[in-house]
Amino acid sequence: MAESNKKDDKPAEGLRKGLTSYGDSGFSLFLRKAFIKGAGYTDNALDRPVIGIANTGSAYNPCHGNMPQLIEAVKRGVMLAGGLPMDFPTISIHESFASPTSMYLRNLMSIDTEEMIRAQPMDAVVLIGGCDKTVPAQLMGAASAGIPAIQLVTGSMLTGSHRAERVGACTDCRRYWGKYRADEINDEEIADVNNQLVASVGTCSVMGTASTMACVTEALGMMVPGGASPPAVTADRIRVAERTGAVAVAMARQSLTPDKIMTGKAFENALRVLLAIGGSTNGIIHLTAMAGRLGMDIDLDRLDAMGRETPVLIDLKPSGQYYMEDLHKAGGVHALLRELKPLLHLDTLTVTGRTLGEELESAGPGFPQNVVRPFAQPIYPQGGIAVLRGNLAPGGAIIKQSAANPELMEHEGRAVVFENLEDLVTRIDDEDLDVKADDVLVLKHIGPIGASMPEAGYMPIPKKLARAGVKDMVRISDGRMSGTAAGTIVLHVTPESAIGGPLAYVKSGDRIRLSVKNREISLLVSDAELETRRKASPVTPPTAERGYRQLFLKCVTQADKGVDFDFLRASETTERIPRDR
Ligand code: FES
Ligand code: MG
Repeated sequence: MAESNKKDDKPAEGLRKGLTSYGDSGFSLFLRKAFIKGAGYTDNALDRPVIGIANTGSAYNPCHGNMPQLIEAVKRGVMLAGGLPMDFPTISIHESFASPTSMYLRNLMSIDTEEMIRAQPMDAVVLIGGCDKTVPAQLMGAASAGIPAIQLVTGSMLTGSHRAERVGACTDCRRYWGKYRADEINDEEIADVNNQLVASVGTCSVMGTASTMACVTEALGMMVPGGASPPAVTADRIRVAERTGAVAVAMARQSLTPDKIMTGKAFENALRVLLAIGGSTNGIIHLTAMAGRLGMDIDLDRLDAMGRETPVLIDLKPSGQYYMEDLHKAGGVHALLRELKPLLHLDTLTVTGRTLGEELESAGPGFPQNVVRPFAQPIYPQGGIAVLRGNLAPGGAIIKQSAANPELMEHEGRAVVFENLEDLVTRIDDEDLDVKADDVLVLKHIGPIGASMPEAGYMPIPKKLARAGVKDMVRISDGRMSGTAAGTIVLHVTPESAIGGPLAYVKSGDRIRLSVKNREISLLVSDAELETRRKASPVTPPTAERGYRQLFLKCVTQADKGVDFDFLRASETTERIPRDR
């Protein structure tokens, strides 16, 4: 859009050749200028770096409810820095309004983002996301598209107040629903609290997946420093948006592309932060998918080793007690990075063109606060996420140990098996269900191929046990759980049951051993017996006749590869991270 339309003109500095990538370059530019002028632009407006702004606002997405204000502020920042802002829509995904699952749509959103960045003339792009799957989808797409990109998040929602108790989505949603199931609160109270759990627009107020992705994205260097923590409705959030627009123009001028920022070292910083915030288990899947786009594999065993030396320092629900707005008041992600400094790579580049270390230097000193703990006084002595292996999960499984019950982390019990989600729904509250508090609940067929990986790994405690006061049980599945959930829950069992992973052959009554100390998840059944069961009832993976579901089932990878489509990953793996230590 920025070039003059003379036949032999070269594209102006900083502008992509993509502007004239098809047809007669002179004529195609002439045509584009003619069309964009239909919106009233002058040549002066068009003769500057074009900054795309990915607009993911939707009436179905209250987590993105401040999108209009953010877009306005980003545009102001872009124009103050001498660029031309152009917002464009892409898919939006909200966790509660994405059927069958939000994970099913994440890759579709990443394809949409990548192709719209490629298709439309722009020199840099501002990605505005927030709700769980949106930020990873945008960063996956931007990593593949390869032009300068910067992430802006919508910011967290405010906390509400229910009968003088502070509440926020969605750890407290689960807590109150648990009380309701256990008959501890009545219909009137559950209806009352429903009005308070989501007190404003913005993303979930605890360290769920949205907050997790915001924090790791800042650590990764893909967001302006301080950009993760301001709540959605604050002036700070709007200022971050304005600054993001200005930085995007500078990135366009410097051709600061994602591959220069999202390096192996930057991903190690991000993983370090994921562990230290007691972050969502979904964070592992998303970081794996993002890294995969740039030719990097995340090695789960090395990640576990990293976790052993990375304490949880952030006191946020579900691992701790506070909310995102408290983290912001406590200094945000910088307060954490300062504590983690000896474990970080300080020479990684950020969107500002300065290194993480330089940004930390200029962030000023810390101050007394209660939300980010000093390194020596952690919330939990190790990283939030531990990686488990054993004959039940040859490709690995994970547990959020910081949000698990210490008494159940070394446990052996009898399996109570549910074959799929429907079976779970039908039988979990059956008064005649043969289940005791020390049993292990097993849910099959909720992996990527089985059910597009819903957050159903957080199985409810059977009603009769909940009424008797049972708050937690060991639960195992090939699915995910919400970052806002807590409990002794083993997730992402790989390979999944729907493709014949060992989980498919567990029977009620089998013994299962969980030892978080030894990083073990074992089915105490002989190999020979498992083989007999496999032969007796072989598993047939589901298929689809047409459409996106067919593509999904054919191409989706397992949890250890990020649940991305195989054809979207980089064609070869050039690096394994974290590196051996
Ligand atoms: Fe959108 Fe929680 S539902 S961030
Ligand atoms: Mg969530």
